[in-house]
Amino acid sequence: MEFRKRWTQGRRVRCHSTASVPQFTNSPTMIVMVGLPARGKTYISKKLTRYLNWIGVTTKVFNVGQYRRDATRSYNSFEFFRPDNEEAMKIRKSCAIAALKDVCDYFTRELGQVVVFDATNTTLERREVILGFAEENGYKVFFVESICDDLEIIAQNIKQVKLSSPDYKDCDKEEAVADFLKRIECYKMTYIPLDDNKDRNLSYIKIFNVGSRYLVNRVQDHIQSRIVYYLMNIHVTPRSIYLSRHGESELNLSGRIGGDSGLSPRGAKFASALGTYMRGQCISDLKVWTSHMKRTIQTAEALGVPYEQWKALNEIDAGVCEDMTYEEIQEHYPEEFALRDQDKYRYRYPKGESYEDLVQRLEPVIMELERQENVLVICHQAVMRCLLAYFLNKTAHELPYLKCPLHTVLKLTPVAYGCKVESVFLNVEAVNTHRDKPVNVDVDREPAEALETVPDHI
Ligand SMILES: *[C@@H]1O[C@H](CO)[C@@H](O)[C@H](O)[C@H]1NC(C)=O
Ligand SMILES: *[C@@H]1O[C@H](CO)[C@@H](O)[C@H](O)[C@H]1NC(C)=O
Ligand SMILES: *[C@@H]1O[C@H](CO)[C@@H](O)[C@H](O)[C@H]1NC(C)=O
Ligand SMILES: *[C@@H]1O[C@H](CO)[C@@H](O)[C@H](O)[C@H]1NC(C)=O
Repeated sequence: MEFRKRWTQGRRVRCHSTASVPQFTNSPTMIVMVGLPARGKTYISKKLTRYLNWIGVTTKVFNVGQYRRDATRSYNSFEFFRPDNEEAMKIRKSCAIAALKDVCDYFTRELGQVVVFDATNTTLERREVILGFAEENGYKVFFVESICDDLEIIAQNIKQVKLSSPDYKDCDKEEAVADFLKRIECYKMTYIPLDDNKDRNLSYIKIFNVGSRYLVNRVQDHIQSRIVYYLMNIHVTPRSIYLSRHGESELNLSGRIGGDSGLSPRGAKFASALGTYMRGQCISDLKVWTSHMKRTIQTAEALGVPYEQWKALNEIDAGVCEDMTYEEIQEHYPEEFALRDQDKYRYRYPKGESYEDLVQRLEPVIMELERQENVLVICHQAVMRCLLAYFLNKTAHELPYLKCPLHTVLKLTPVAYGCKVESVFLNVEAVNTHRDKPVNVDVDREPAEALETVPDHI
């Protein structure tokens, strides 16, 4: 209860959306990774953390390997990881303890709600230490164990992410792989997987061979169930996601927001250029998604391929400000306009939505994007900002100002722990619809100050 109070403090500003995420805050949660090295634990930790932060659950990864690197400040060969290396064992244990102490600080001082404990030690004893620590502090624990016996997947993982690790910065590649395999053997000596019988009172998910099979045990609450659902939907098949806004619309030409107008002549030209670009990508199984609004449907029609319509992809609802120009909003609702500039993420238009609302509406879209392979999403400015923030790990603060110009496709391709972005302008002119945050955001500012960053329009 103590936590809940603090987490919602300062949230009661007029017109701001109250958190639409259910408040999972009565007791903080530790997600503890279990598994041998090169089983994708860090990948899962980072990805899960990005997702939880995006849906509004304050989350941070604690990587015990990083503490070890900071503590020893030097290259650790496999010798360091032998269970009979007592000196090293002490260092590793003290690192785990230092990490746990920082977990405490994160929950109490930084108001974190979830931590992902990305540790490499896989013994019963270490799990006991973590469980004891959690119990003492009133934290819930959920284990995520990644089990993989497919040698090809393991080799792939070592090549993709481990060789770029600071541990192997100045090493010969062949030697590094050999060393890494020996390191794995050291862990195997003491690794005891979670046991279906002995550990039946614990909460966990076991992931076999990157998701070919799962075993889920004792899910305790809403957040754990969402984590399980997410982990069961992600995959590592190579693919690209293409994000684009609709072609320029009639209303954009006149600088009006919202509405449901059709494409301008230049918008139609973009739609056909988009078709040419996508055919050039030579993807046989491409899925195309639009919103329920005319301008995205008209854009997709020009591609001449089947597409699916999602109401969840509709543009942010500007409520009483729909169809208005920014000048009209300033004239009729100057205070609203300033409040929006003060906190654009949480500001909710009267009778409309906030960006925070939009993220919640888009969560099923993200989940389905994770499940799918190649997808082109034809959407809207605010919607595209929310989707992009998820893939690029942007904060709620940055999200409403991400640049998503018209007639530009963003091609996102997953690489190692993140996403590569290519921005492709399809060479069809369009109006600029991006409005930066003005310098003065006070409710009693002059109209000229409020309108300082409004893009040109007719
Ligand atoms: C993990 O740490 C424990 C001490 O907490 C130690 O007894 C064990 O040998 C370690 N395991 C490995 C694989 O190094
Ligand atoms: C699981 O919990 C029950 C009830 O608290 C207890 O009786 C049982 O011994 C526990 N089992 C194990 C394997 O720890
Ligand atoms: C562009 O026009 C569409 C409606 O046609 C609207 O949803 C969007 O908010 C407009 N953007 C701006 C900044 O004018
Ligand atoms: C995501 O962003 C946060 C800061 O907002 C940062 O601490 C974290 O390392 C980032 N994660 C990745 C995978 O880049």
